[in-house]
Amino acid sequence: MVKRIERHEARIGMFIESLEGSWQDNPIGQRRFLLTSDTQVDLIKNSRITGIYINLAKGVDVDGSSRGLASVPSPNPSPRKRSLAEERKATAKIVQASVKRLEGAFDRSRSGEPIDIESVSEIVGDISTQIGDSPAILLDITRLKSKDKVTFVHSVAVSALLVHFARHLQFEEPLVRVLGFAGLVHDIGKLAIPTEILNKTAALTAEERDVIMQHPAVGHDILKRQGNLPGVVLDICRHHHERMNGKGYPDGIPAADLSIYVRMSTICDVYEAVTSVRPYKKPWSSAMALSWMLQHGDHFDLQLLWKFILSLDSELTRGVA
Ligand SMILES: [Fe+2]
Repeated sequence: MVKRIERHEARIGMFIESLEGSWQDNPIGQRRFLLTSDTQVDLIKNSRITGIYINLAKGVDVDGSSRGLASVPSPNPSPRKRSLAEERKATAKIVQASVKRLEGAFDRSRSGEPIDIESVSEIVGDISTQIGDSPAILLDITRLKSKDKVTFVHSVAVSALLVHFARHLQFEEPLVRVLGFAGLVHDIGKLAIPTEILNKTAALTAEERDVIMQHPAVGHDILKRQGNLPGVVLDICRHHHERMNGKGYPDGIPAADLSIYVRMSTICDVYEAVTSVRPYKKPWSSAMALSWMLQHGDHFDLQLLWKFILSLDSELTRGVA
């Protein structure tokens, strides 16, 4: 039996059949799932959804009673805290699955089909839920070497950073999800770049550099054709290589025209790029990357950059100068 309840009545052990509201309002990014953690319950309670449909045959009722499956977890479990190794293993699984699904979504786009928004939203849901428990581990996992999937791993990591940063700035959860979505698709224009250029380890020629610099505009066109994506997603895709000094690309627009979302995305994008492993370079340490970014204050919004630094674990920022 499916029953409608209010969002404040959500509790662990409920099986969600669907949530009322648009996909942007869905804080979990999935349609049918079992509520298994306090993080998920809090996300639902603090979201903009207007109601929840729960399946009583598969999960508990508002009062915690269960009339369905015996396998439904206790509504008040006291789970054993996972060890660091277990946490890393679980996170690595989510990152691998996210990269694979993102690759699938981009493949559809490559063949001219619209992106599967629901599938990408579900990736955001997985990343957002996991990052609530262990942001440092999630980023750590994306540092693993990946030669052929650089763009996808980078996009998953930027998405995780944007979600983490947006939560630190206390944005509302639906907006956090939109930013997570933008992180996943911001480099979709790279689909149009031949892999020989994208993965070239030697210095690029002027023509090759021109091709690479087209990816924000190409990506923007792809996403615009989709017709139903939030403006923030299009804005970040087109402008994530712009700079505060107006010398970025593709439009070279001045700081006054760069939204806070774009400014956040440029910080997360560059931080991720320089701290990650690439075929042609060794990763910088977090402190080295942040120090370099602070010295290039004309590229970034410095106030936001300091907030970003504060959002990271103190372990990552030790030695920033
Ligand atoms: Fe990019």
